[in-house]
Amino acid sequence: MGKFTATDKARLDELISRYPTKKAALLPALWVAQEVYGGWLPLDAMEEVAVHLELPTADVQGVATFYTMYNKEPRGQHAIEICHNVSCMVLGAEQLIQHCERRLGVSATGETTTDGIFTLARVECLGACCNAPAVQVGGTYYENVSFERMDALLETLKTASSEVVNPPQAGLPEMKEL
Ligand code: FES
Repeated sequence: MGKFTATDKARLDELISRYPTKKAALLPALWVAQEVYGGWLPLDAMEEVAVHLELPTADVQGVATFYTMYNKEPRGQHAIEICHNVSCMVLGAEQLIQHCERRLGVSATGETTTDGIFTLARVECLGACCNAPAVQVGGTYYENVSFERMDALLETLKTASSEVVNPPQAGLPEMKEL
């Protein structure tokens, strides 16, 4: 059984109204589905999107599996995404990733801690190169992240509630200096 409520369906309809075809609304519709399904896209979520957009499920799967920002596996309460591209790498991203791997006991390949709180992943450029190294957690960006700042962030997040994936249509991510 699907998880979309009447409110979710109304959200999808509003998104669809912005595009010339239903198919053109597929990317933002998948963001909504990812949010509704707790941060990832199981097959049920893709099927619900397919039904609502009147598309073959295979088309929806093809798009959802192509883009890395759509999660195909469940994630922890907080997904720590650390940029490993050039600017961040030069300013210590690799060491920051290794620091987080040691601290959380998981690999930055999208592994989740056994308590289900953190998922750690290395990602491509977050577009915050001028303040590298950059980290994204849900819809929030953290910049100039040092070991100390990362430790403080992890401590804060441990007791924070789940952060929902920020759909692009909700606005730009919040930028934070720790
Ligand atoms: S290289 Fe890291 S944000 Fe661009």
